[in-house]
Amino acid sequence: MHVAVLIQNTSHPLGLRLREMLQARLSCRESELISFDRAEETLARGKASVLVVVLSPAPELALNYLRKLRSRVSGPVLAVGLASDSKLILRALHEGADHYLDESDLEAQLDSVIQRLQINLERTQQSNGRLIGLLGASGGSGTSTLAVNLAGVLARDRGRCALIDLKPGVGDLAALLDLKPTHNLADLCLNSARMDRAMFESALVVHASGVHLLAPPQMYEDIRLVTAAGVNKTLHLARDLFRHTVVDLEDCYHEEQATVLRQADAILLVFRLDFTSLRSTKRILENLAQAGIDGERVSLAINRFGQAKELPLTQAEEALGRKISFIVPDDPKTINAANNAGEPAVFRSPSSKVALSIVQMANGLSARDETESTPTPRHPVKSANGWLAVFHG
Ligand SMILES: Nc1ncnc2c1ncn2[C@@H]1O[C@H](COP(=O)(O)OP(=O)(O)OP(=O)(O)O)[C@@H](O)[C@H]1O
Ligand SMILES: [Mg+2]
Repeated sequence: MHVAVLIQNTSHPLGLRLREMLQARLSCRESELISFDRAEETLARGKASVLVVVLSPAPELALNYLRKLRSRVSGPVLAVGLASDSKLILRALHEGADHYLDESDLEAQLDSVIQRLQINLERTQQSNGRLIGLLGASGGSGTSTLAVNLAGVLARDRGRCALIDLKPGVGDLAALLDLKPTHNLADLCLNSARMDRAMFESALVVHASGVHLLAPPQMYEDIRLVTAAGVNKTLHLARDLFRHTVVDLEDCYHEEQATVLRQADAILLVFRLDFTSLRSTKRILENLAQAGIDGERVSLAINRFGQAKELPLTQAEEALGRKISFIVPDDPKTINAANNAGEPAVFRSPSSKVALSIVQMANGLSARDETESTPTPRHPVKSANGWLAVFHG
């Protein structure tokens, strides 16, 4: 468990005392005091299970950070401040704090909150399902095709699987599964403050394979309702209830997308062996690194492998400086037939090479649950000529 205490001045006695008290009560392996100016960078790196925001002596500034960082924390947020200022308490709760603690009576207040907190945290930690995000290097990489097939295999072989379509306005996972959702992510975001297990489950549409799909909103006024905080809460509920959650992502920049990437146990970056796709893959890898996302969690997958005149695999690995973990063959006959029928290829044509490669991918991505093995990155090799030169400058 990682507890982050956010405070204006990290050597302030209140912060030091708070950290000591939290360490003693929450038996946390790590707890750190973070100053406001380092907060974003530090929280982007790690997964804080609990965030404590100390409001005094700069409550306005502290509330700003609380608002900005709420979606980056997987667990509860506590605000510490004066109990005499009722407006401040309300604002802190409004910005996303789960509990407000009176700084003048910290010990007793912590004791009462922590018992409840402890139970919830342990439950969350025990039941945390594996989160797998799929990101396409460019449009048409085959990410949605892989997402429905991957979720299908996981549901069939490892118990029911949550599938979240995080492409507001353009998502097509429901069509690929021949499902007709009646609710979507916007309904959950609109009611995120009171979202619970029952509400989350009622928003899902169930496929015969055991895939439980959460569809995206399609209309403009609903798309605007999607928030990072709503997505964050949705992810927590999904991971509580499902052993695997697969998310089809739109990009790596918008906050509601980034919140998935930060929490994902595995990120599958899907691309094709052509120059523009490879260049885009390289850029996304750089952006993920800049966002503080650990490269170990990112696996590379080539889709539509085996097309005429595509770039050689080894040179792609060279250009990216990383090993490619999964290869899915180009098989328009099988994939078009499956996609057009709304029946994933892994069910419609289970013995096809393309279906078998997706089963292998599912095994690779879920196996790390137990083994924590990750692909060994290959070191980049300098090459001065041809298209590779573009990548090495
Ligand atoms: N392995 C494959 N072999 C042959 N065709 C494929 C394969 N994977 C995907 N396709 C085809 O590629 C096209 C794009 O696939 P898909 O819609 O899954 O991509 P996407 O990355 O989700 O696209 P978008 O950027 O629009 O979300 C579809 O016509 C699909 O049938
Ligand atoms: Mg798609």
